Amino acid sequence: MPERHVRIVAVTDVEIARTIPAEEWAALEPMINAIEQLKVERDAVVLAHNYITPAIYHGVADLTGDSLGLARAAAETDAEVVVFAGVHFMAESAKIICPDKTVLIPDPTAGCSLAASITGADIRRLRKRYPGVPVVSYVNTSVEVKAETDICCTSSNAVAVVESLGADRVIFVPDKYLGHYVASQTDTEIIFWEGACEVHERFSGEELREYRRSVPGVPIIAHPECPPDVLDEADYVGSTAGMIGWVKGNRPERVVMVTECSMSDNVAVEVPDVELVRPCNLCPHMKKITLEKVRNSLLCLEHEVLVDPEIAARARQAVDRMLSVSGTG
Ligand code: 13P
Ligand code: SF4
Repeated sequence: MPERHVRIVAVTDVEIARTIPAEEWAALEPMINAIEQLKVERDAVVLAHNYITPAIYHGVADLTGDSLGLARAAAETDAEVVVFAGVHFMAESAKIICPDKTVLIPDPTAGCSLAASITGADIRRLRKRYPGVPVVSYVNTSVEVKAETDICCTSSNAVAVVESLGADRVIFVPDKYLGHYVASQTDTEIIFWEGACEVHERFSGEELREYRRSVPGVPIIAHPECPPDVLDEADYVGSTAGMIGWVKGNRPERVVMVTECSMSDNVAVEVPDVELVRPCNLCPHMKKITLEKVRNSLLCLEHEVLVDPEIAARARQAVDRMLSVSGTG
């Protein structure tokens, strides 16, 4: 077991006042330090998605990132236990990649409207309808769907993955909006599925034009799960990590971030010179993951993510094919 040290977090360690008031942060300190102690005792790491609450993101996460970055981090960690502070399909992906590790999710009911929109049986039906057409699944899917899939993709590599197949047309599931975005970037014909993210589908082009009218010249950056009229207004389209990289690289005076709004709170701490204009839609599933549940997860080693080994092995092939596509990430 690798040697781990308890990280003592003090109020003054992190400049997070922009997001969490000092008194609130001080009140969280005992819980954060209890989690740090448990991480050492359990040989555990906490991987957290960019949409997780600021207390987890800044308080206890060992690694933060988008779906692709966290999948890679899960593959690389030497810890025995991975606590996944994100939604269920993300923790399941970690378990597919690391079958020998204990993967825990603090709340197993943290789902995703995209993952819930399609089943393995749906993919089998699509294959019958479009014989020989390869299937690309967004990672926001269950292990059963991944197992029926030729190759997975994330929001940061969807275009490269589709093009890597060299096919005239592909079946792209389940996000119709990400599918539309990919179709706009490639000559490959895309066969869509009618899934959507319940958070990103609420943004509208009109809402963004209103921002442009009230803050002339403000750049707009958006996640590709947004509808096409939103992406038409965007100066940059990318994954959550891509959007963070864009803000850090370009340092605009202000920027409209069109995605789940905890991410703006998390990034605000790291770019104090940038004003983040945040149309606020929250992911109710991500918000189920609390600091207290992370603590309980480590304390009781609950809730372990388990996958059928045969299904997981087939799903892993689709994930591994994605990870080996050059130029992704
Ligand atoms: P990213 O891979 O861009 O982090 O997106 C995951 C997600 O669920 C966005 O809603
Ligand atoms: Fe799923 Fe949308 Fe939540 Fe991302 S933001 S986890 S796509 S429901």
